[in-house]
Amino acid sequence: MIPYQVIEKKSQGFALKETEIREFVLGYSNGLIPDYQMSALLMAIFIKGMTSDETLDLTRVMLESGERMDFSGSPGFVADKHSTGGVGDKVSILLAPILAVLGIHVPMISGRGLGHSGGTLDKLESIPGFNVNLGLQEWKDLVLSQGLGLIGQTGTICPADKKIYALRDVTATVRSIPLISASIMSKKIAEGIQGLVLDVKTGNGAFMQTLTDSRLLANSLVSIGTGYGIKTTALITDMNQPLGLAIGNWFEIEESVRGLQGNGPADLMDVTYALGAEILRMADPKLSQDEAVEMQKKTVADGSAFEKLKKITELQGGNPKVLDELEKYPKARFQTTIRSTQSGYLSGIDTMSLGFAGIQLGAGRKIISDRIDHSSGMYIHCKLGDKMGVGDEMLTLYSEDEDKLRSVEEQISAGFTFTETTPELPPLIVERIT
Ligand code: URA
Repeated sequence: MIPYQVIEKKSQGFALKETEIREFVLGYSNGLIPDYQMSALLMAIFIKGMTSDETLDLTRVMLESGERMDFSGSPGFVADKHSTGGVGDKVSILLAPILAVLGIHVPMISGRGLGHSGGTLDKLESIPGFNVNLGLQEWKDLVLSQGLGLIGQTGTICPADKKIYALRDVTATVRSIPLISASIMSKKIAEGIQGLVLDVKTGNGAFMQTLTDSRLLANSLVSIGTGYGIKTTALITDMNQPLGLAIGNWFEIEESVRGLQGNGPADLMDVTYALGAEILRMADPKLSQDEAVEMQKKTVADGSAFEKLKKITELQGGNPKVLDELEKYPKARFQTTIRSTQSGYLSGIDTMSLGFAGIQLGAGRKIISDRIDHSSGMYIHCKLGDKMGVGDEMLTLYSEDEDKLRSVEEQISAGFTFTETTPELPPLIVERIT
C-alpha cells in the first residue's frame, strides 16, 4: 500500500478497500505513516465521505488496533453513554456516578476536547491528580467494584482513535459522519458493553447542525452498535445554546458537582435524566420512563451520586476535597463581564463561536502540544428566550491571559441576537432513534 495512492483514491471520491483502510490506519497508529499523510486522508474522507461499508471497516480496524474488554459474567448491566460533542456538555460527569449508584456498570472511555467542543478527559483532569490513564486491569477492577471507571483511549485500548482524534481536533476534520461514527463506536465496542445511549447533538453548537445530518449520524451510530450486538439508542438533543451555564474544564466540573448536589441547571439535568432513563430501561424493560427518571433524581437528592463521584475521584488519584470546597479552586487571573447593548428577548446564540472562544481563552488546544489552562472558561448568565435589558450581564469570561480575553470579547457579543417578541424555542430532546 502506498499512502499517496490511498489519499489520491479517496480524494477522487472512490471507496477504499478494507485492506487499504487497515494498512493506512494501523500504519499511522504504529508510527509508520506520518501526521501529514493521515491529515490529508482525513480531509479527503471529510470532503468525499465514506460508504456505510467503508465506515464499518474503519470502525472495525480502529477497534482491532487495540484490546477489547470482556465483562461477561459481570453481575451488573454493563452500559455507557457517549455524546457526539457540544458546548458545555458535561452530562457524562453527572451520569456515570448516577448510573453506578443504581447498579449499572459504566466502563467509560472518553475523549479530550475536539474542535470547538470540550472533552470529558480534559474536564476530569482539572481535578488535581485525577488520572485518566489507568491500566486496563485497574480500570476493570474499578468498574466491577465501584460501578464506574473513567479513562481515555490508551496505547492498548483504541490506540488508533487516540492518535487520529488528536489530529482531527486541530485539522478541522471532525464534522464527518464516518469519522465520528468510527471514533465513537470503536471506543464503545472496545468497552465490552451491553447497552449504549448516544447523545447526538443538533444545532449551531453541534458538529451536525441540521436535523437531517443529525439523524444520519444517529442512524449510523445506532446501526453499528446494534450490528455488534449492543442494545443501542440515540437521543437527538438541542445544541443551539450551551448546555447548562458553564463552559471550560473546571467550570464544567463545578457545575456538574452542583448538579449532583441538587442545584444543576434544568436543561443539563433534563438531558442527563433522559439519557440515564434509556440505559436504566435497557437494563430493566419493566421500568417506566417516569420511574427511571425518579430513581436518578433520588441519587441526587440523597447525595449518593455525589459521594460516588468523590469516591471515584479519590480512587483515580484525584483530590476529592476540591469537590467539597469548590470556592477554593484557583481562579484565572483576569476576568471580564460582557453586558447586553440591546433590549429584547434573546433569540439566538452563536454556540460554536462560544466553544472556539473557550479555546482562545486557554480551555482547548490550537495545536496538538498545547497545554490546557483549566481555570479558563466562561459562565453564561442568560438562556434563549430570556428577556434582556441594556446593561444586563450576558456572560463572564476568565483567562490567565488578558490579551486573549480582550480578543474574544467583541467576537462573542456579535453572536447574540434579540427579537422584540418571545422567540420560538427548539425542544431540548428533539427525537429518539432506535
Ligand atoms: N466523540 C468522539 O469520541 N469522537 C468524535 O469524533 C466525536 C465525538
